Amino acid sequence: MAATLVQTQTLRLGDIAPDFTAETTEGNIQLHKWMGDNWVVFFSHPKDYTPVCTTELGVTANLLGEFKKRNVKVLALSVDNLKSHEGWIKDINETQNTTVNFPIVADADKKVANLYGMIHPNASDTMTVRTVLIIDPSKKIRLMMTYPASTGRNFVEILRVIDSLQLTDKFSVATPANWIQGQDCVILPSITDLKTIKNKFPKGFKELKPYLRLTPQPNN
Ligand code: BEZ
Repeated sequence: MAATLVQTQTLRLGDIAPDFTAETTEGNIQLHKWMGDNWVVFFSHPKDYTPVCTTELGVTANLLGEFKKRNVKVLALSVDNLKSHEGWIKDINETQNTTVNFPIVADADKKVANLYGMIHPNASDTMTVRTVLIIDPSKKIRLMMTYPASTGRNFVEILRVIDSLQLTDKFSVATPANWIQGQDCVILPSITDLKTIKNKFPKGFKELKPYLRLTPQPNN
């Protein structure tokens, strides 16, 4: 039997998200061009017509306004064909009381899933795991999460991470454990000069330790 060449990359944080062209439920896309200046949440689904995925896509569709507010586009992937996706979307809309209004990549040949290492053969050699990638406007991968097929993801957590990343980029702060909107942030350890700290954080700061300095959320 002829061997099939599967192109798989080990992706890490900070890598450029590999570009690809693919058929989706909203037409053909080329990832980098489609992203434009937006952030992207790219997430995989084990298979069409599966219960957990159905709820995840419904929740995502209902949260699309929250993603848009943050300049984030959403792109799903499932390793079935376009016709299957189209039928499934009708079920999602009906059962989750929503309208799926973002593209789902039709990846029946698993080209994109393999490119992104979304198939973990020791978990399943036919279905993808639940991968989540957050990609920034410079196309860098800023977050990677991998969930098993049987556990639905928490999309409020995904929004929380986007908020944290955007705060870091804009205001040089990090966010502590379990941080939510409105709570104190942490001044990046790389900022050590007192004058810079006073200029950058006009709301003030508390120094618990030289490496642990809290400041009110800058954009709140
Ligand atoms: C699901 O999406 O419901 C699912 C998929 C594969 C295994 C278990 C659950």
